[in-house]
Amino acid sequence: CGIVGYVGDRDATPVLVEGLHRLEYRGYDSAGVAVLRKGKLVVTKAAGRVQELRDRLAESAPVASTIGIAHTRWATHGEPSDRNAHPHLDAAGRIAVVHNGIIENAEPLRARLTAEGVELASDTDTEVFAHLIAAELGTGSLEDAVRAAVRQVEGTYGLVVLDRTRPDELVVARNGSPIVLGIGDGEMYVASDVAALVHHTQRVVFLDDGELATVKANEYRTSTLEARRTSKQPTTVDVLADDYELGGFPDFMRKEMAEQPEAVERALRGRLDERFATAHLGGLGLDAMALRAVRRVKFLGCGSAYYAGQMGATLVEELARIPADAEPASEFRYRNPVVDPDTLYVAISQSGETLDTLAAVQELRRKGGRVIGAVNVVGSAVARECGSGVFLHAGPEVSVASTKAMTNMTVSFAMLALLLGRVRDLSASSGARIVNGLRALPEHIEQVLGTDDAVREVARHYSKATHMFFLGRVRGWPVAREGAQKLKEISYVHAEAYQSAELKHGPLALIDPDMPSVVVVPDDELLSKNLSTMEQIKARGGPVIAVTNADLPDGLADHVIRVPRGEPELDPIVFTIALQMLAYHLAVELGRDVDKPRNLAKSVTVE
Ligand code: G6P
Repeated sequence: CGIVGYVGDRDATPVLVEGLHRLEYRGYDSAGVAVLRKGKLVVTKAAGRVQELRDRLAESAPVASTIGIAHTRWATHGEPSDRNAHPHLDAAGRIAVVHNGIIENAEPLRARLTAEGVELASDTDTEVFAHLIAAELGTGSLEDAVRAAVRQVEGTYGLVVLDRTRPDELVVARNGSPIVLGIGDGEMYVASDVAALVHHTQRVVFLDDGELATVKANEYRTSTLEARRTSKQPTTVDVLADDYELGGFPDFMRKEMAEQPEAVERALRGRLDERFATAHLGGLGLDAMALRAVRRVKFLGCGSAYYAGQMGATLVEELARIPADAEPASEFRYRNPVVDPDTLYVAISQSGETLDTLAAVQELRRKGGRVIGAVNVVGSAVARECGSGVFLHAGPEVSVASTKAMTNMTVSFAMLALLLGRVRDLSASSGARIVNGLRALPEHIEQVLGTDDAVREVARHYSKATHMFFLGRVRGWPVAREGAQKLKEISYVHAEAYQSAELKHGPLALIDPDMPSVVVVPDDELLSKNLSTMEQIKARGGPVIAVTNADLPDGLADHVIRVPRGEPELDPIVFTIALQMLAYHLAVELGRDVDKPRNLAKSVTVE
C-alpha cells in the first residue's frame, strides 16, 4: 500500500493525488484522500485505480486546502471497496488516518470498541486507530494521543494522522512499515516511499521503528514510543525523479528490462578482481576465514527473489562446491527450521520490505543464524535487520513484476559463489573465466534485448494459448520456474514449470497441439538430454519453443529464441531475460496492464 501526506502552502489535493499516482505500484485496489477545509475533513474515496479517485474528485467541487493525507490500498482485511478504502475516520469525524501494515489484535480491539458503543464503519483493521486516537485526545498534543493509541496495538504500522482541529500539523508513526519525511521549502511531505517525494525534494528523514513525528510546514520533531525526543538529520536520497518517469517507454516493465545492461554494470562495479580472479563484496563483513568456515548456504526469498535464490544455490554448489539450496522465506519462517550455525543464510528482497522475508530474518537472528541481505532498497527493513550483505544497485524498480532487480540478484550470487569458491577449490583460471563471463554480461544482455522483434513474433503466434509448460533442467530449472511465474503474473495465462526429466513422469499426459512448451536449452553438458526432451514433446504433437544458445537440429523446435553464448554457469541470467521478453510481449498482445497485474502488489508487507 502507499501513503502520502502534505502540509504547506499549496493546494493539497493535486499534490496528494500525484503522490498516490507514483505509489500506485504498491497497491491499486482502492484509493482515498482526506483534506482539511475550514475545520472540516473532506474525504473522497474510490474503489479501483487512482484514476477512479481522480475522476471522482473531478466530479465534485474542488476543496482548497493546504493539508491532507492520502492512501492507495492493496486489500488484506475486507474486500476492496469505497467503504474499506482509507482514510478512515473516528465516529465524530475529527481524526482521519491512513495506515500501512497489519494490526494483529484488531479483532479484540474492534470488539472492545463495539462494546464501548462505537459504531465501526468499515471491515478494516485501520479504522481502529482512528477510534483509539480519538479516545486518547485530551489536553495533550495529538502526538501524545497517537502515542497512547499505538501502544495498544500489536502489529505493524506506517501511520499518518490528521486532526480537524489542528490545521497545521500531521502526526506520523512507524513500526515495521516505512515512513519517510520529505523536507521542502516551507512545506513538508510524508510518504511510505521516496517515490512519492523525489519530484519535490531529495532531502528526507527516514523514521525508525518505534518512532513518531509531528510534522508542520516548517519543522518536524521526532520522538520514541516512550516520549523521548530523538534527533534526526535529513539525508539526501540519490534516486532521481527521472527514475520514476517512463522516459519514452510505454510502461515501466519495458523500461526496466531495457535498463538491465547498465543495472548489471552497476552491480559489478568495483567488485570484480582480475588479479586474483575473485570478487570483493565488502558489505558481507566476512573475512577469508569466516568465508571458509561456511559449510552450507541457504537462500530465502519470495516470488522472483526465491527463484533468484535457486539460481544462486546452483551457482554456489557449482563454483564453491558447498551444499546450497533455496526456500521460500514464507515456508521457512513457519516450519520451525533447524538453524545451523555453520550455514550462511541469504535473505533476498528487492524492496527489503516483504514481511515473510523480514520475519524469516528475525527468526534466524533469534536462533543465532548468520544472515546477510541481498537487497535493492538501501535502508529498508531487511537491509537494516541483516546489517550486512550485498546491495543490488538495480535502481528503483516500479513495475510489479521484477526484472532488473531479479537479474542483479543472480549476478550478485554469481559473485558470492565466486568468492566462496576462490577461498576453497576453485582454480585461478576457473575464477578468471567467471570474472570474464560476468564482465561480458551487459553486452550479452544487450544482444538478448536486441532480439525483441523475433520474441514478439513468437508471442503473437502463441497468444491464443491458454496453458503453457516451461521446462528446464539443473541450471535451467529455476529459469523455467521464473519464466512461468512471469507469464502467469502479467498475462494471466496458466503456466507450469517442470524439470525436463520429470515430464515423462506425469505431465507428458497433458501434451497435445494446444499445449506449447517453452524449453530452456543451454549449450552445456546437458544439451543432448534437452534435445531428447524436445523430441518427446514433438512426438506427442506438442509445439516447442526453444530458448537456446546451441545449434539445434532442424525441425526439433517450432520456434527458436536465440540468446548469446557465455560461460555456462551464467546462462540462467541471460536466458531469464529472454523469458521476461516472451511474457511481456504475450501480456501486451493480450492487452494486459503489465505494470499492475490484477490482485498483485509490488511489495507485500503483510502475511
Ligand atoms: C511480490 C511481487 C513479486 C516479488 C515478491 C518479492 O509478490 O509481486 O514480483 O518477486 O513480492 O518481493 P521483494 O521485494 O521481497 O523482492
